[in-house]
Amino acid sequence: MNVVLGVSGGIAAYKACILLRLLKESGHDVRVVPTAAALNFVGEATWEALSGHPVASGVFTDVDQVKHVRFGREADLVVVAPATADLLARAAHGRADDLLTSTLLTATCPVVFAPAMHTEMWQHPATRANVALLRERGAHVVEPDSGRLTGADTGPGRLPEPESLFVLLKGFLRHPAPLRDADPRTGADAPSVTGRRDLVGRKVVVSAGGTREPIDPVRFIGNHSSGRQGIALAAAAAARGADVTLIAAHVDAPLPAGVRVERVATTAELYDATVEAAAGADAAVLAAAPADFTPKSSSDRKLKRKGDLDLALTSTPDIAAAVGRTKRPGQVLVVFAAETHDGPEHARAKREAKNADLVVLNDVSGGAVFGSAENSVTLFDERGEVDALAHASKESVAHAIWDAVSAALP
Ligand SMILES: Cc1cc2nc3c(=O)[nH]c(=O)nc-3n(C[C@H](O)[C@H](O)[C@H](O)COP(=O)(O)O)c2cc1C
Repeated sequence: MNVVLGVSGGIAAYKACILLRLLKESGHDVRVVPTAAALNFVGEATWEALSGHPVASGVFTDVDQVKHVRFGREADLVVVAPATADLLARAAHGRADDLLTSTLLTATCPVVFAPAMHTEMWQHPATRANVALLRERGAHVVEPDSGRLTGADTGPGRLPEPESLFVLLKGFLRHPAPLRDADPRTGADAPSVTGRRDLVGRKVVVSAGGTREPIDPVRFIGNHSSGRQGIALAAAAAARGADVTLIAAHVDAPLPAGVRVERVATTAELYDATVEAAAGADAAVLAAAPADFTPKSSSDRKLKRKGDLDLALTSTPDIAAAVGRTKRPGQVLVVFAAETHDGPEHARAKREAKNADLVVLNDVSGGAVFGSAENSVTLFDERGEVDALAHASKESVAHAIWDAVSAALP
């Protein structure tokens, strides 16, 4: 994939070096286009060494290559991180006074801006209007994090961590072939970038990760879920323009930038957060792995080793059934069924029992999918089996699920 990484003149330019590394390490060809101001923060040598390409800020170097038109035309994805208040203003108003803004005017691929600036600049009506204009025209403008800014001050305006930006960018990718058949020589694994924005204006809820049921202050009952499929679902929905709430139980991977995150620990907390968020959503995709059992009581002091420990367990509340019971007409509910055997019968029965629109049957026999980059799933709707993906990337599975949700939404 050809990526243009635009970097404008903010203190967070150093974080773009890590983003560049992550993109390069996953096989993408990255052209860095820094603004003149950005070069005050990180110099040309760093960008050239890390990207393997020469860099320029203006349009009057290597004029024979007509870079101001070519970079935009050849790009599969343009990401500007950090995007300063000034860069957002120039982009929103169609200025073409340097190589980065010229590239933005010629790019027809998806464009992602990751703004970073002081809270006052971010909240200024001029910046709000520029962001609104860019979003209206189809650009993806990431909500900045809230946290420590340049000095001792804190507030919204912080550039999300590069790992989180990278997870969001992966949400734009679909792999055409099963990951297992990937062949770098033929390019069979080259992902395509989705420009679909069919979830703009939709509120979606995704749950991810495994819950932990406390036995005592240091021990818990948990499961092997890494949360990666739910994270990929949240990233893909954000890439398609949705307003995403991600309810994250225990996960072992970075969360996508710009999505609303609610952290939960136990199944009871996951239940409350999911039922509440689903009530106001157009679609809920329940990919978390809640514990089905929890200790009847947990000790508030660490249990000492002494003979046998009899642990009495009780069933946890059924989250999917609760969301299905209160589902409004037009709302779409997707539930996961992780099974080791009797999958298809169980998936059909689960769809009916939970009042779900779609069941994603996940073959977890052997534990191969946990923490892996790929997944094998079968989708069941009211017609029965409608799609099967074997050894697909978790991003591709996520897009197949959103295709089905998008088709089912009124
Ligand atoms: C130390 C320092 C840090 C800055 N950090 C930011 C920032 O985080 N966000 C921002 O919008 N502007 C920031 N600025 C201001 C921009 O550098 C200035 O607006 C510049 O004109 C941006 O140019 P560009 O958009 O072409 O990169 C900073 C300036 C200085 C001196």
